[in-house]
Amino acid sequence: MEMMQTPVTVVILAAGLGTRMKSRQAKVLHRAGGKCLVEHVVETALALAPAERIFVVVGHQAEEVRRAITTPGIGFIEQGEQKGTGHAVMVGRAQLEALGGYLVVLYGDCPLLRVETLRQLIDTETASSAAATLLTAEMADPTGYGRVLRNAGGQVAEIVEQKAATAEQLAIREANMGIYCFRADLFWKHVGELGTDNPAQEYYLTDMAAIFNRAGLTVEALRIGDAREALGINNRLELAEVDRLLRDRKLREVMLAGVTVEKPETVTIDAEVRIGMDTVIEPFAQILGRTTIGENCRIGACAILRDSELANDVEIGPFTVVGTSRLERGVHAGPFARLRMDNHVEAGAHIGNFVELKKTHMGAGAKANHLAYLGDSHIGARSNIGAGTITCNYDGVSKHPTTIGEGAFVGSNATLVAPLEIGDGSYIGAGSVITKPVPPDALAIGRGHQFVKEGWARKRRERK
Ligand code: UD1
Ligand code: CA
Repeated sequence: MEMMQTPVTVVILAAGLGTRMKSRQAKVLHRAGGKCLVEHVVETALALAPAERIFVVVGHQAEEVRRAITTPGIGFIEQGEQKGTGHAVMVGRAQLEALGGYLVVLYGDCPLLRVETLRQLIDTETASSAAATLLTAEMADPTGYGRVLRNAGGQVAEIVEQKAATAEQLAIREANMGIYCFRADLFWKHVGELGTDNPAQEYYLTDMAAIFNRAGLTVEALRIGDAREALGINNRLELAEVDRLLRDRKLREVMLAGVTVEKPETVTIDAEVRIGMDTVIEPFAQILGRTTIGENCRIGACAILRDSELANDVEIGPFTVVGTSRLERGVHAGPFARLRMDNHVEAGAHIGNFVELKKTHMGAGAKANHLAYLGDSHIGARSNIGAGTITCNYDGVSKHPTTIGEGAFVGSNATLVAPLEIGDGSYIGAGSVITKPVPPDALAIGRGHQFVKEGWARKRRERK
């Protein structure tokens, strides 16, 4: 299988601004399916070629686009002025020509293309003697796309852009998807023949078809069944459409891997999320970023999880928001809890409604079941934090820690003024303001004494 070993170089065109997005941000930086568009395409390219043979053509907001691509080794080509799709590849000549093999051209705004389709495109090209193979599709409405003109032998004779097409050509429904596999040597031999004699006065990559034909070479087409796979995003409507398709794909993957998703059309799961078997996701949940969820968990309705790690058997109640936190086996959180950032909750701990955690460690089996703020704190195993407990971690200038030992009992409405240490097994009376350390096994009460005036209320009523 010698042909399989022919190296492939991938060029991703991503220099355009995308005027129709009506945005200050370059088009390929807009997000769909939880990732920016160009990241999806880079990921696809990585299945076809090593990073060293992948190049992204950048122009508009070149710096931002470079920063969005974090895979090491990917090359960049600067296209200072956007003079067309042909020009975009031409400017990379110095880096690309010497690599030989086959040249695959992708667009940074086409995130739905599947690896299998591109492998088929490459296989079609390598198995034939054609100078290039391009991806086409029959479209009910090909408006805006280049039309594919075939010769008597069924090969591609020419591609005509919408703007330059005659009425007869506009009736052709086979459209150019803009994705190509070129034989690199023939591409570089002939690319100099591209001109700008067209309504847009740009170098059209599509003109390579006619150029090859003129040189006596052939161009093949691989027709795909569903043009939506090659949907290029031009405006926000298409962005939303692609987002939906990418999310559907992810949901299917997750469900086929053994996750129950209730009302999947309402659920958002980002591309890199991992979820274990028998976990149940309730309607309207959003599972974002690099979140991983173990087996047999339940994610409540409208919960939002971002960049967090949940072990097995974790239960997240409805309307709970979790960011960059680690929840170990059997933790319960919510409904209506907020685990803001950098929390570590050990096995079996409970976090109830209207409890906010920030940079807090909860030991195994610890409980904060109602209405509390626990910030910069370390709470020992099996401790119970009463309703209304507040760690006063901020003095207006800096943040201070609160450490609570194991098996402690903090009564309701305690105000814990940090920095503070509360020992193992101690008790804090309800309503206390605690400003001094509490040793292990002690009782601390810090509140006004109650006095009772017998008959006071009755006398008051009688006076009136
Ligand atoms: C192109 C094809 C058209 C095809 C369609 C499929 C040409 C001339 N036409 O048209 O036949 O049906 O794609 O979607 O190629 N880009 C650069 N630098 C440039 C110009 C473009 O990097 O100088 C990038 C853009 O950022 C974009 C991609 O190339 O990601 C495609 O450019 P676009 O202008 O959208 O081409 P279309 O008009 O859609
Ligand atoms: Ca386009």
